[in-house]
Amino acid sequence: MNDTAIPGRALPIVARAPGKCILFGEHAVVRAQPEVLLAVDVYTQVAIRPAPEWRVNGHPESAASNAYLQAAIRELWAGGEPLDVTVVSRIPRASGMGSSAAFIAGLAASFGAARGGVDRPTLAQQAFSVERTAQGVGSPGDTSAAVAGGYLTLNTDVAAVGEPLWTVGAGPDRWTVRRIGDPGWVWVVAFSGLPKDTGPKVRAVGEKFASPEGPELLRRFAEVARAGLHAMEREDAGETGHLLDQNQELLRAVGVSHPRLEALIEAARPAALGAKVTGAGGGGSIVALARPGQEADLVRRLARAGAVPFATKPAPVGVQLV
Ligand code: PMV
Repeated sequence: MNDTAIPGRALPIVARAPGKCILFGEHAVVRAQPEVLLAVDVYTQVAIRPAPEWRVNGHPESAASNAYLQAAIRELWAGGEPLDVTVVSRIPRASGMGSSAAFIAGLAASFGAARGGVDRPTLAQQAFSVERTAQGVGSPGDTSAAVAGGYLTLNTDVAAVGEPLWTVGAGPDRWTVRRIGDPGWVWVVAFSGLPKDTGPKVRAVGEKFASPEGPELLRRFAEVARAGLHAMEREDAGETGHLLDQNQELLRAVGVSHPRLEALIEAARPAALGAKVTGAGGGGSIVALARPGQEADLVRRLARAGAVPFATKPAPVGVQLV
């Protein structure tokens, strides 16, 4: 089901794609280090239909200013007719929950369907390329989660865990993507309300990684992500929580936390086995693993601290036509 291709279809076409939550290894994954993430059960829906001019949700100016749409048109819809694009999203924007990757995956799947169908490895490559063109920097983690669904790991083939899905990128910029098992836990993601801006954060952290302390930082990010992956494989929630905290120390060290995010992590602590920033940081969201039976308490604590919390399960499938 998950790995089925997107079939060909006539316009109008509607597709929906899940958001994502990064558990281990954001930022370091841009430098080819391991990452662990899951697609979450909040979705963006994209509909395309013929129109006299390009429009997003009825507005031609929104189509002209949307860098993701413009990149997708250039790369995946060359010579194609103008379309009306309608986007309805339950994923808060700029929250670190992958709203842009879900939009791109929905759009790429719709274009692929209109052009006779597309397989998922191709779609993963296309969605990454569009995001990279629009954002200038980044890894294929978010777009692969939106395309594949479920739990994924990038760049951990040495550990030989999971099932290989695809390799994305080219030359030295190459990432391997594998599907891993679902430990069956509920994750709580809490949006701070502070928007984050991925491109500038990735560039700033890139400078840290290029500094003399960079190699040691990258080594520690990789070590924590690999240990996190193994703890999840053993379904050891306590150890996974401890490693989430260690990952957060590294995110602090590279400068992507924020007092508001630290306050949410503190608020979560009594009901959580571990908590960290998820995504590019500097704003956006945290993710926490609840102590067994304390999911509702964790959600309440984060809401009282002023965040918008979501108790999330993995989205079992990636982008699909509706
Ligand atoms: O905050 P988001 O959802 O854009 O996630 C960014 C994750 C990074 O590792 C910082 C960048 C990337 O492309 O992997």
